[in-house]
Amino acid sequence: MTAPALDARSRLRRITGLTPSGHLHVGNLLGAMAPIAAGQYDHDTVVFLADLHAMTVRHDPARVRANTLEQATLLLAAGVDPEVTLLYPQSQVPAHTELHYLLECVTGVGEAQRMIQYREKSARQRQVRLSLLTYPVLMAADILLHRIREVPVGDDQDQHVELARDLAIRFNQRYGDTFPVPVAVHPSAAARVMDLADPTSKMSKSAGSGAGTLFLLDPPDVLRRKVLRAVTDSGTTVAYDPVHRPGVANLLEILAACAGRSPADLATEFDSYGRLKAAVVDAVLARVTPIQARYAELSRDPAHVHGLLRAGAERARAATADTVRAARAAIGLLD
Ligand code: ADP
Ligand code: TRP
Repeated sequence: MTAPALDARSRLRRITGLTPSGHLHVGNLLGAMAPIAAGQYDHDTVVFLADLHAMTVRHDPARVRANTLEQATLLLAAGVDPEVTLLYPQSQVPAHTELHYLLECVTGVGEAQRMIQYREKSARQRQVRLSLLTYPVLMAADILLHRIREVPVGDDQDQHVELARDLAIRFNQRYGDTFPVPVAVHPSAAARVMDLADPTSKMSKSAGSGAGTLFLLDPPDVLRRKVLRAVTDSGTTVAYDPVHRPGVANLLEILAACAGRSPADLATEFDSYGRLKAAVVDAVLARVTPIQARYAELSRDPAHVHGLLRAGAERARAATADTVRAARAAIGLLD
């Protein structure tokens, strides 16, 4: 398989970065992995393991390495096809960091310090890594490197895509037209699965004890128990009301995303929380069990998965070389 021509179908090219900072969960599956796998034959698709992003906060080297392989294996198990999708670890394509540096040269310190996620994360730590401040610039490099125009992200990433946009415009104005200007796009509802134990926060790899997180590699009985213990409210009838009844709404959204239906419609079909939860257990297990089976098969041969990633990285290096060359020349570096 040869690398896609640089500008062919670039309007439709999509990119997703998964950070190997923990274990993947049903939020990642429904919000990112399943839509990627479903769209990969219609769009040029780039999926990279953002291992460099995993180092912007304290990290354990062995765990980052293990998580990277685990996440890649889960992506393959969930149907990402490495023949058509560029799947690779970010660090194996040095163009990401090369472009990162060039983009730092068009970024203001104040601009980086204004990022909400940086302010929130840095306020919670005593020793803040410089890479946490510059991470949105690396994310801009991820996007511009692949000449992406539409970036599907959760709304928490809007400001970062906005920065990528500003940097592309500024670079083009100062040094000549080099990058397409990207824009954030938001996937459909259910794009934000909430924590089952705290339905006001997002289901996340790093949330507390994990009691409210449905990890893709949790054994079926653990998944069942987590759903059955999900926080609801003191009501008894099932209605879809995300503002006043976030726990029930979240269960309905998970079910809706699994069934390809609308949460409000589904609400009319249940007369108790118990029955709703039982249906969510069935739907989640029906989605996750086949992925676990393929994961078990694939992980018998980690060298094969590793080889696929290396091949993906090689294609990504080839596919991005022209863009880096153009950026280097524009900004004043000798070729
Ligand atoms: P996390 O927030 O768990 O650390 P990442 O930042 O690595 O996940 O995000 C990987 C992808 O999964 C992104 O496309 C993100 O939008 C999606 N994603 C993460 N959490 C959720 C969630 N709770 N619901 C829906 N999609 C999610
Ligand atoms: N920062 C993104 C997140 O936390 C992950 C990411 C890194 C990303 N680089 C990207 C997403 C480039 C889209 C495009 O979810």
